[in-house]
Amino acid sequence: MESLKYIENNKKKFLDELLDLLRIPSVSADPKFNDDVRRAAEFVKEKFDEAGVDSSEIHETAGHPIVYAEKIIDADLPTVLVYGHYDVQPADPYELWDSPPFEPVIKNDRIYARGACDDKGQFYMHLKSFEAMNASGELQCNVKFMIEGEEEVGSDNLGVFVQENKEKLKADVILISDTSIISNDHPSITVGLRGLSYLEVEVIGPNRDLHSGVYGGAVGNPVNTLCDMISSLIDEKGRITIPGFYDKVAELTAEERAEMAKAPFDLEAYKKDLGIEVVKGEEGFSSNERTGIRPTLDVNGIWGGYTGKGAKTVLPSKASAKISARLVPNQDSEEMTQLIIDHLMKIAPKHVTVKVTPHHGGEPAVTPTDSKGYKSASKAFEAAWGKTPIPTRDGGSIPIVALFQKELGLESVLLGFGLDEDALHSPNESYGVFNFYKGIETITWFHKFFAEAGK
Ligand code: BES
Ligand code: MN
Ligand code: MN
Repeated sequence: MESLKYIENNKKKFLDELLDLLRIPSVSADPKFNDDVRRAAEFVKEKFDEAGVDSSEIHETAGHPIVYAEKIIDADLPTVLVYGHYDVQPADPYELWDSPPFEPVIKNDRIYARGACDDKGQFYMHLKSFEAMNASGELQCNVKFMIEGEEEVGSDNLGVFVQENKEKLKADVILISDTSIISNDHPSITVGLRGLSYLEVEVIGPNRDLHSGVYGGAVGNPVNTLCDMISSLIDEKGRITIPGFYDKVAELTAEERAEMAKAPFDLEAYKKDLGIEVVKGEEGFSSNERTGIRPTLDVNGIWGGYTGKGAKTVLPSKASAKISARLVPNQDSEEMTQLIIDHLMKIAPKHVTVKVTPHHGGEPAVTPTDSKGYKSASKAFEAAWGKTPIPTRDGGSIPIVALFQKELGLESVLLGFGLDEDALHSPNESYGVFNFYKGIETITWFHKFFAEAGK
């Protein structure tokens, strides 16, 4: 393919452009970065124009804008709709970064910056693959691109955009690079994502912070109480104790679990990477099953009382925690959020008042392996990596995948190229330069095979 030569000849340009994009701190969660988020959208639109799309637009929403671009070469040909996100997670805590998060550096063949892998480095591969195919006259499918700026805060406005633009978004497949592979030796295609319930709980005790000597022992402590409540949510077998929590969980058959167990998993390397001696989770399930097919509940943050330097003797008036549950088919996010809220209210002792506020959630998704899209992706890996990819279920969430199924009736192909070591959402996020280039190549093969498979 000529396109592959074009990629080879433009490697430096592609990488330099990605570094420019990474310099824009498009943090969607923090209004302080609103102008930067917009600047990132403008950058992306400009690059689509340069790459040769027919049309592009910055679509305004109630929140951050969506970049939409397309090139229709022939209405009778198949259409690929690419989804990605140009927003990133906050980079805090900055002091834990070895180099500033928005001043990308390349070290040991890795690009270090917030968003390097999630998802700037990954969606940008699609833009460059398109440029290569278009410049080489090898574009064989229609392509539509929808790159949003609110994935990391729940994609609320993308949901609206999709509902209002079903005609415009008509396609034969959705292609997303926002997930990981097992390793560069064992490429894989994600076929499952978990859903999410997220809520914040506040436990309120006495009307003011108290002297812990004068009152301690006689007045309920909200921090102690919140900890008691939280620790009662998971039993010694790693099972969540909320009644009904597992009622709708789709259980896999023994054959399906045996199939899943074939995916290589290096437990020692996993523990070493994380600096832990032992793993922990629901009894009776492997690490891959614990993240892939089982629901979980985690505290994401907890605070209350005195957390400054030294010791202050205080019995705090309030305590709070952010709690999330990862969900699996066929759990419904709203239903599960309500179930958790009701349970927290029920177990709240009389000596405190408990308030629970739900945050954004999302539905789990499973994608087929017998589709034209999956088969084209599998062939693309064979062509680019010389290996047949293994289907895997990831623990993370991309709620929009379930929404695409529901609203557009379209399946997504999760053609991600990240690695566990990329440290998504963590300090020192990175993306392998190899994965960036190999991804562009794989995407280019995908388009070829998908076009060849016909409509
Ligand atoms: N790209 C991730 C999701 C992901 C990462 C899936 C690795 C599979 C493997 C995405 O940007 C993300 O972080 N999603 C959020 C959900 C969202 C509702 C905030 C998540 O999973 O926490
Ligand atoms: Mn992402
Ligand atoms: Mn993310």
